[in-house]
Amino acid sequence: MSRLFAKKPLSILLSEASDSEKGLKRTLGSGALVALGIGAIIGAGLFSLTGIAAAENAGPAVTISFVLAAVGCAFAGLCYAEFASMIPVAGSAYTYSYATMGEFVAWIIGWDLVLEYALGAATVAVSWSRYLLEFLAKFGIHIPHQLAVSPWETVKMSNGTIIEGGIFNLPAVIIVVLLSLLLIKGTRESAGMNNFLVILKVTVVIIFIVLGWSHIDPANYDPYIPANTGKYENFGWTGIATGAAVVFFAFIGFDAVSTAAQEAKNPQKGMPIGILGSLIICTVLYVLFAHVMTGLLNYKLFAGDAKPAASAFAQTGYDFLQTGLIIAILAGYTSVILVMLLGQSRVFYSMSRDGLLPKFFSDVHPKFRTPWKTNAFFMVFVSLFAGLVPVSDLGHMVSIGTLFAFSLVCIGVIIMRKKMPEIPRAFKTPLVPFVPIMGVLVCGYLMYSLPKESWYRLAVWLGLGLAIYFFYSKNNSKLGNPQK
Ligand code: ALA
Repeated sequence: MSRLFAKKPLSILLSEASDSEKGLKRTLGSGALVALGIGAIIGAGLFSLTGIAAAENAGPAVTISFVLAAVGCAFAGLCYAEFASMIPVAGSAYTYSYATMGEFVAWIIGWDLVLEYALGAATVAVSWSRYLLEFLAKFGIHIPHQLAVSPWETVKMSNGTIIEGGIFNLPAVIIVVLLSLLLIKGTRESAGMNNFLVILKVTVVIIFIVLGWSHIDPANYDPYIPANTGKYENFGWTGIATGAAVVFFAFIGFDAVSTAAQEAKNPQKGMPIGILGSLIICTVLYVLFAHVMTGLLNYKLFAGDAKPAASAFAQTGYDFLQTGLIIAILAGYTSVILVMLLGQSRVFYSMSRDGLLPKFFSDVHPKFRTPWKTNAFFMVFVSLFAGLVPVSDLGHMVSIGTLFAFSLVCIGVIIMRKKMPEIPRAFKTPLVPFVPIMGVLVCGYLMYSLPKESWYRLAVWLGLGLAIYFFYSKNNSKLGNPQK
């Protein structure tokens, strides 16, 4: 039994991280880390879910939903920052839990992170494909519907066409394949591309806010908090809380910064700056964006609208900017997919180095110095999900998996403070245990707000993970089987 709770000594973790001859290259400064965070954060959540949450849950007070979700993420973010400054090794929450809560919990969390990163990439790839279809349609190019929609999905296009079930979502697969190949080529190349995409999407968000501001119609804010309709999730304060669970997806990704700790130049300083900096910048942009969006168009009009940002912006009359908006949204989604795929490969790389997964996953390419086989494996895995599974099923799985990981990281900080108080930490989570406990409570509440099916699917996924752990990982773990 005690084997299950064997902890990986910090000294080993840190020496592995500094083994830069064989390991990953340290190329990312603080700025690149903040960009990595923003790259993973601003995407489908902001550009699509803001409208849904306004129309169905919170009205113009979706701004308050964003603040609530941000507060929940900030609790978890503060915990991540302490871990990342103390254990600056690739693998994020998986690695932290191996050092604090033992191998079994580490396995569960590493396995769970597949839901966040791999399925997160798939979810955004599907939304990316939707915007691509709209974009190409503007130029009279039409991809056959059978090749653009999953077999189990019904999609309403902006010209009113209903597409009921295709064969495969080919554009979603193409973007996953292209970005996986870029990641195989190298982190610096991928970070360079990410910086460019981040600048583009942040510029567009700012243009939207600045140009939209003068076209706000104050009548759209009346009432700011529409009265609850009698149903928990529809408006009023409970609607705002449900809205927070919906827009939580928009914040997912700040933790991806910590997966790249082993590639950071000065991780002790860069990690907290990357995690908390990207979270703060995105929160400010989100609240302003949501404020302008619901000021431009009445919240009721966002019902069933797959591209609410574009509809709201149409009110400004700057038609020529519409196409630019779609291009920037496509770019924004691209960087989310890129960072999610990067995070996923680094988690499996770490699990494989620990012997919990076959060596295949930690083979580093002799020239590119990237875990290329993992990248190739997830290229296929994520493509299958992106090509075949409906977007809403994917999105809920991503949220529940992420919230579960956040909760475990918060608990980990409390354990670590008790068991390893002497280890130096460049960043300390303030007000422990208050902040981690609040993190667990808020994440727990948001999980509670998600549909029942996502709970069943989480249970099935974790059950599969347990089977692999007991049949393979436990017997091959380097920590538990030093002779191997
Ligand atoms: N936060 C990311 C997005 O909104 C996952 O697309």
